[in-house]
Amino acid sequence: MRLRSIFTKPLASYHAGIFFLVLVTGVFISQLTEEHIILGSILIVEYVLLLVMMLHVYEKYMKPIRKASRAVDELVKGNYRTRIHHDAGGSIGELNNKLNALARNLSEFRMQEQMQEEQLSTVVDNTQSGLVLIDEKGYIHLVNRKFLSMFGGHPQDYRSYLYYDVLGNETIHETVQETFLYEKNIKKSFTQTIDLDKKYIEIIGAPIFNERNMLKGAVLLLYDITHLKKLEVMRKDFVANVSHELKTPITSITGFAETLLNGALNDKETLNSFLTIIYDESNRLQGLIEDLLTLSKLEKDDFRLTRTTVQMDRVIGDILPVIQPRADKKEITLTTDIGENITLKADGERIKQVIVNLLTNAISYTPEKGNIMLRVTDEGETVHITVSDNGIGIHPEYVPRIFERFYRVDKARSRNTGGTGLGLAIVKHIVEVHHGNISVESEPDKGSSFHVLLPKHDETSP
Ligand SMILES: Nc1ncnc2c1ncn2[C@@H]1O[C@H](COP(=O)(O)OP(=O)(O)OP(=O)(O)O)[C@@H](O)[C@H]1O
Ligand SMILES: [Mg+2]
Repeated sequence: MRLRSIFTKPLASYHAGIFFLVLVTGVFISQLTEEHIILGSILIVEYVLLLVMMLHVYEKYMKPIRKASRAVDELVKGNYRTRIHHDAGGSIGELNNKLNALARNLSEFRMQEQMQEEQLSTVVDNTQSGLVLIDEKGYIHLVNRKFLSMFGGHPQDYRSYLYYDVLGNETIHETVQETFLYEKNIKKSFTQTIDLDKKYIEIIGAPIFNERNMLKGAVLLLYDITHLKKLEVMRKDFVANVSHELKTPITSITGFAETLLNGALNDKETLNSFLTIIYDESNRLQGLIEDLLTLSKLEKDDFRLTRTTVQMDRVIGDILPVIQPRADKKEITLTTDIGENITLKADGERIKQVIVNLLTNAISYTPEKGNIMLRVTDEGETVHITVSDNGIGIHPEYVPRIFERFYRVDKARSRNTGGTGLGLAIVKHIVEVHHGNISVESEPDKGSSFHVLLPKHDETSP
C-alpha cells in the first residue's frame, strides 16, 4: 500500500517539498548580502537541476514500472490480452518484453484450455447415453443433453444439487449408493415414462478415483434400451407363435395316426377321412415351414434380388391356372384387367408370390359367389397392382396389424382356411426389398383393396 502511494504521486510530493525548502531559503536570502544572493542563485540552479533529474528518473524508471504493475494487475484478473507498449531499453525494456511474453503464453494456454473444454463438452453432449457426474459428497457437477432429454429440465436444475434431492428415481439412488459402497461398476435397469412413452433405461454407475486411488465421485451412464427390449419381446413372441403353429398340426397328425393304429384302420370310411386330415395337416406344416424359410431368407442381411425384366401379363398368365380353380371352388368370379406390355426390373418369382398371396387372401376372405378383381396399370415410373374383393373386409382397428407375422383378425376362421398369418408379412417384405409400397383400403362387410406400387427401375438396389 505504502509502496503504491509512493509510486502514484511521487513527483508532486517531491516537487512540493523542494519548492517549500527553496521558498524558506529565499526569505532568508532577501535579508542577506550580495554573497548570500550568489549563494541563493546557486541554490535555485541546483533546484532546477534536481527537478530535471527527477523528471528523468520518473520518465525512465517509475512510469514504466507503474505501467508494468498495471499490466500485472490485468493478468492477475485473467485479462491475458493485455500488453505493455513502452519503448524502453535496458532492464526495464527486458522486463516489459518478458511480461509481454508471459501474457502471450498465458493467452495461448487459455485458448488451448478453452478448446479442450469445448471438445469435451461437445463429446459429452453428443453421446447417445445420458451422463451424470457426481462428486464424493453427492453433489451433481455435470449432466449432458441426452440426460436432459430423458428426464427433462435444464442443467441448472441439477448442477450443484445433491443427487437425491433432484433425481427422484429409486434405482438411480441405489446405483449411486452401491457404486460408492462397493467402489466398482454397478449395472441396473428401470422403466421411465418419457412423453407418455414407457422407456426401458439401463444405468451403469462407475466410481472415479484420484491419483492416490481415493474415491472422488461417480459417473452415471444411462442408456435407452427400449428397442432392445422390444426386439427381445418380439423374438420371444415369434418363438412362442412358431411353436404354437407347429404344435397344432403335429398334435392333430399324432392324434389321428394314434386312433388309426388303435383299430380305426379297419373302418374304410374313418380311415379315408382321417388320412385326409393327416394329409391336410401335413400340407399346413409344409406351408408354414416354407413361409418361415421365405421370411428368414428375405430378412438375411446379404439377401439379393434376382432382377430381370418381368413382363406382367406373363406373370399373371403363370398364376391364373393355379388360382382360378380355387376361385371356381367357391364360385367366385375372378376378373383381370392387365395393361399391355407392362414390364419392370424385378424378381419375377417374388412378384408372383406377392400376387398369389393377395389373390389367395381375397378368395379366402370372400364368401361364395363373390367377386375379385386383379388390375395391373402402368403409372409411368411405377407399376400399380390392385387386388380388390367384395368379401368380409377388415375393421379399421385391425388394418395396421395385418402385416405383422402371425396376425390374423379372426384366428378360428383363418385357421379353417389353412392360414398362419405369415402371408402378408411376406408380401410386405417382398414389396419393401423392391423399394415399393403396399397399402390397404377396406370396409367391413363391403370388401378390401390391396394396392402395391413397384418402381420400374430401381437404381438404388443392388
Ligand atoms: N382380402 C382380405 N379380406 C379380409 N381380411 C383379410 C384379407 N387379406 C388378409 N386379411 C386379414 O389379414 C390377416 C393376415 O393375412 P395373412 O395373409 O398374413 O395371413 P393368413 O391369410 O391368415 O395366413 P397365411 O399365412 O396362410 O396367408 C388374415 O388372417 C385376415 O384376417
Ligand atoms: Mg394369407
